[in-house]
Amino acid sequence: MKSRGSRCLSPSKKKIAFAGPWITKKEVQYVRDGVLYGFYETFDQHVRKLEQTVCEYIGARYAIATHCCTLALHLACETLGFKEGDEVICTDFSWVATAYAISYTGATPVFVDIDPKTWCIDPDAIERAITKKTKGIMLVHTFGHPSDMDRIMVIARKYQLKVVEDAAPALGSTYKGKHVGTFGDIGCFSFHGAKIAVSGEGGILVTNNEEYYKKAKLLASMGRTDSRAVFWSDMLGFQYTIANLTASLALAQVERIEELVARKRQIHSWYREALDGVSGIDLLEEQGDVRSNYCYPSLLLPRHMRLERDVILAKLKALNIHARPAFPRMSEFPLYAPSRFPNPVATRVAAQGISLPSAGNLTKRDVFFVGKALNAILQEMRR
Ligand SMILES: Cc1ncc(COP(=O)(O)O)c(C=O)c1O
Repeated sequence: MKSRGSRCLSPSKKKIAFAGPWITKKEVQYVRDGVLYGFYETFDQHVRKLEQTVCEYIGARYAIATHCCTLALHLACETLGFKEGDEVICTDFSWVATAYAISYTGATPVFVDIDPKTWCIDPDAIERAITKKTKGIMLVHTFGHPSDMDRIMVIARKYQLKVVEDAAPALGSTYKGKHVGTFGDIGCFSFHGAKIAVSGEGGILVTNNEEYYKKAKLLASMGRTDSRAVFWSDMLGFQYTIANLTASLALAQVERIEELVARKRQIHSWYREALDGVSGIDLLEEQGDVRSNYCYPSLLLPRHMRLERDVILAKLKALNIHARPAFPRMSEFPLYAPSRFPNPVATRVAAQGISLPSAGNLTKRDVFFVGKALNAILQEMRR
């Protein structure tokens, strides 16, 4: 596809935003209800309904809505008993919340590599990292693409490891027809403003295990039991529960989740069309019997290293196109000792990966403008 260069393009008048919600009258109505009626007898009505709706949608037995997904992940790690001296095998490629949730408990994340086609944790790398201290696996359904759950659960059973699914961006994604977040011991989703279903901040922990549910519930509400007196607390807990008002917005979005997934998948299919024939990019696609919610359509620029990749992002931004670089390797953060494994795939993706805009208000025209701009910039860089 020949292009005259990105300087011949005028910036988009509309901000082609990386992320952002799709809000309808329903959300406004639910938030209004939350403001007017979310107190007194009905102080937690949206929270209960949100938990029930997520359970029914993904096929889980129990849910606890939290202030954000980071706290749900911490709650998961505490509930499963990770502690100092334990090792938890963790993908090296994620937002830092994934690793810090392990570190909050005193356990050590052991960072392993990812699969080049999905950017999710590599099951072979998990098995190579197991030691006598290994207690669990923390995986991420990266950018909405499901991890290889069959292989991961075989490894978990073989070595008796607990599994936390960080499904922060992956509500609505399925693996072999089953919702992500329901394979491991505990799954966690985010309703952060940049996710598929949003409430500003917000998260939810799900599990099918009654014992974990009870423990997590207690931990999330200051260990309060009222067992010996009103306000009695039996364990060191946290104040991690979601506000009803926040839950009112999350609930409206979750009730529309199939519509939101369809929109994200539509945006991804427009990218596939718009980038067809553009050389020098590898667009991430579904692998195997999965449904990705394509929360963040992403691609690799195999001919460009980090500095050039960042120039490409800056040129896109000059055209009012807000794409995002891939995550750096968490194992390189100052908190952690040098990684036991070199993790070459995560290293490459950190330097060459980008995620494209996929805000809820994008049109086909916007997406094709991104495709045209990217093509023009890549050709310019080759000259
Ligand atoms: C993979 C992953 N895990 C955890 C989180 C944390 O979610 P929250 O912002 O709701 O705490 C995020 C948020 O971006 C994420 O992308």
